[in-house]
Amino acid sequence: MGLLDGRRLLLGVGGGIAAYKAPELVRRLREAGASVRVVLTDAGARFVSELALEVVSRAPVGRGLWEPSDASGIVHTDLGKEVDLIVLAPATANLIGRIRHGLADDLLSTTVMACHTPVLVCPSMNSEMLANPLVRENIEALAAQPRFKVLEPGSGLLACGVTGPGRLPDPPEIIEAAAGVLTPTTLEGVRVAVSAGPTREALDPVRFLTNRSSGTMGYALARAFAARGADVTLISGPTGLRTPVGVTRRVDITSAAEAAVAVEEIFPSCDVLVMAAAIADYRPATRAEHKLKKDAGPLHLALERTTDILATVAARPDRAGRVLIGFAAETRDVEALAREKLDRKGLDWIIANDVAGVGVGFGTGDNAGMLVGRDGTTTELRRASKDAFAERVVDLLGPAILERLARG
Ligand code: CTP
Repeated sequence: MGLLDGRRLLLGVGGGIAAYKAPELVRRLREAGASVRVVLTDAGARFVSELALEVVSRAPVGRGLWEPSDASGIVHTDLGKEVDLIVLAPATANLIGRIRHGLADDLLSTTVMACHTPVLVCPSMNSEMLANPLVRENIEALAAQPRFKVLEPGSGLLACGVTGPGRLPDPPEIIEAAAGVLTPTTLEGVRVAVSAGPTREALDPVRFLTNRSSGTMGYALARAFAARGADVTLISGPTGLRTPVGVTRRVDITSAAEAAVAVEEIFPSCDVLVMAAAIADYRPATRAEHKLKKDAGPLHLALERTTDILATVAARPDRAGRVLIGFAAETRDVEALAREKLDRKGLDWIIANDVAGVGVGFGTGDNAGMLVGRDGTTTELRRASKDAFAERVVDLLGPAILERLARG
């Protein structure tokens, strides 16, 4: 299952250099489960071939406004109505300006104008153009309309040789943003903190103890909550992963002690805490000031316990009215051990993983397990990609979280 399973998309390709990325974007949108129709503007066709887009989308590409529809099969007033989402990528200053002012002088602008389908606008242009107050005004005017969602461009080396904002975001980011637009915002206003990734416990200035967590599961949960309109804070160990689209803020931590400080700080202003991070249970009792030398002979490490963050916040007086969700990685008796952990730590739900399985859990692309609730329920979570797993968890938890928060 992909983030865009069964969705019908229309990709509008404007005339910017980033149009050369459009065939790859079509391929990735299709891999994410969407069917894709493409409309290519005349300026866009100067940068990318219609044939390439037709081959990757496996559908005729919409080009002209004046072709008889029985020849092209494309009726400009219907095209936008037949899809769930229009994605404009790259959206040039010209395309944005024309749409903002209600101009409809080619197939793409006419299609956008002749329907009420939501539009994801992915501006991509030279940094100076993007900073131009008139262009900014047009982008902001579109963003202020409920029908339009603007995905701000990334920063990087642009085709004109300048480094700055204006880069078309990579396909995974566009896919996340598209999925976000299509997901009902059922958790609007709910404040969610998600911890993710490993911790590093320093032995000396160059060495540390860590674990196999990649952070992918926690990041997927942060994305899934954000897609439903929650206000998400991601507390992240060292992962190298991109902050998911829609996440409001990210706090980077390295050690278990830093994670404890970050969670304690956010706790009073969150409704839901999801501890997906693999927090070290032990750290070196001392951290050498200088690099340890091997000529000192055998090295015996003394380890001390770190603070159990979940258990600590669960015991706080302000815990009431908040929802606490933990993870349990087990290799046997998964349900019984997860339920024991849920009781011991005073949690509302535990997401239990059977990490003994091949290809699931730590450092892999998939996850499988069960959702164990304080209310005595256990729901099986079948093996799925971590994104699909996170979707299912948040779909299951969403109504229960709202009900629990309403009770206070
Ligand atoms: N956790 C925490 N603080 C720690 C360690 C873990 O809050 N110092 C959280 C994790 O983020 C996770 C859950 O507690 O949500 C995991 O519980 P834990 O008892 O650490 O699980 P295991 O490491 O699997 O424990 P055990 O070795 O006892 O099975």
